[in-house]
Amino acid sequence: MSSVSSFDLIVIGAGPGGYVCAFRAAQLGLKVALVEKRATLGGTCLNVGCIPSKALLASSEHYVFAKQHAAEHGVKLGSVELDLATLLKKKDAVVTKLVGGVAQLAKARKITVVTGAASFVSANTVSVGDQQLTAKNIVIATGSTPVELPFMKFDGQTIVSSDHAINFPSVPKKLVVVGGGVIGVELGSVWARLGADVTVVEFLPKIIATYDDDIIRNFTRIIQKQGLKIEVGAKVTGYANGILTAERGTEKLSFPADKVLVAVGRRPFTDSLGLDKAGVQLDEKKRIKVDAHLKTTAPGVWAIGDVVAGPMLAHKAEEDGVAVAEWIAGKHGHINWDLVPGVVYTDPEVASVGLGEDQAKAAGIAINVGKFNFAANGRAIAADATDGYVKIIADAKTDKILGAQILGRNAGELISEIVTHMEYGGSAEDLARTIHAHPTMSEAVKEAALAVSKSALHAL
Ligand code: NAI
Repeated sequence: MSSVSSFDLIVIGAGPGGYVCAFRAAQLGLKVALVEKRATLGGTCLNVGCIPSKALLASSEHYVFAKQHAAEHGVKLGSVELDLATLLKKKDAVVTKLVGGVAQLAKARKITVVTGAASFVSANTVSVGDQQLTAKNIVIATGSTPVELPFMKFDGQTIVSSDHAINFPSVPKKLVVVGGGVIGVELGSVWARLGADVTVVEFLPKIIATYDDDIIRNFTRIIQKQGLKIEVGAKVTGYANGILTAERGTEKLSFPADKVLVAVGRRPFTDSLGLDKAGVQLDEKKRIKVDAHLKTTAPGVWAIGDVVAGPMLAHKAEEDGVAVAEWIAGKHGHINWDLVPGVVYTDPEVASVGLGEDQAKAAGIAINVGKFNFAANGRAIAADATDGYVKIIADAKTDKILGAQILGRNAGELISEIVTHMEYGGSAEDLARTIHAHPTMSEAVKEAALAVSKSALHAL
């Protein structure tokens, strides 16, 4: 006989979308069950995605600094060697700390964590192993999984996804990355810094294609200088005998590779959920169909994060989760999907929010654009971080900020004040008249805002 437990809310999937939804619901007084098939909480992001990759990016940056730049700061280190096992252990420790922290918070909030894969029995009941859980509201937060190329299936050894590329036991000699998106350039950078010969093979004519062309051009040049080889406009055709083959028009390309990281996107993960038993429908792209309040086609069933339309980003999933918890609790949840920042965590970083310059021009919107180079920023010069610039796009008539793109060290941190100004409908002048501490790289944001009205102080 299986046991049946009842809750106010069941959340399926404990990634940043699901666990945050569960936390917010518990704060609002709901009795919550959080079902997760992994042994640890935190989902892709904490276990195999955002967090371990950032740990690897940080450690590999230290290695490059020690090897290439310490001496110019008067720091003599003698010979610098890589100890990959320790580097990976450090990354694992970061993950362990964070997933443990999430588990502690779940416990303190009296959330019932159920380990196992949930499958719908009906719109208000799921089974997990031999248990049944029932609730008036169920949130699907099962995330996404790497897309596989049908002619080059993942084998976990040679043809791998990001799940494995955070854990190579030795530095590959020749790593080919298929896909010049966010994962491709981030993990490509990690292994290039650690000594691999890395080639990124991208199908489109440019990498990180959602950014403005000028940002992409400068970013591409910088990472090429760091040693990454970039091959665009190339259609991968297969891998055999240590060679990855591709075509660019009639040109045949071949790249020797002892490892191939396939990073061509992620797909919503809804396998084995039994969605039909609940009456939850998918859209044409196999994402869960939801309305503007993230309600699925089944009564009382909601879906958030990577399983629904929108950017597959942890912070977007978190906002979805908070809003849904608030709606379920009868409160007024709020999400502004137009202001989801995007960040590529390379060195320099790339960050964006809102409309790009190219996008605005293509839509025929009259804009003024202000740019400011980090090369003219005191803090950036002192910190050896002069690559890149801040670009702010404002409405030509009203001066309202429509978007921003930043290429530069800590761009991911710098973008957030622009997101805040935009959230409150701020103009470029509002941002330009806000005091920024000196000397900080954030002054480049203020100067770019001044440059919108051609009034930058530290540039002509
Ligand atoms: P992506 O969508 O960012 O990039 C995939 C790239 O692969 C695209 O440039 C695409 O044109 C290319 N591509 C597709 N098929 C190809 C083929 N057959 N041959 C060569 N190139 C091909 O996807 P990615 O990098 O796999 O990341 C997956 C998801 O994870 C994304 O939604 C991304 O936003 C998210 N993510 C976000 C991060 C961040 O915010 N820093 C970090 C890592 C992942």
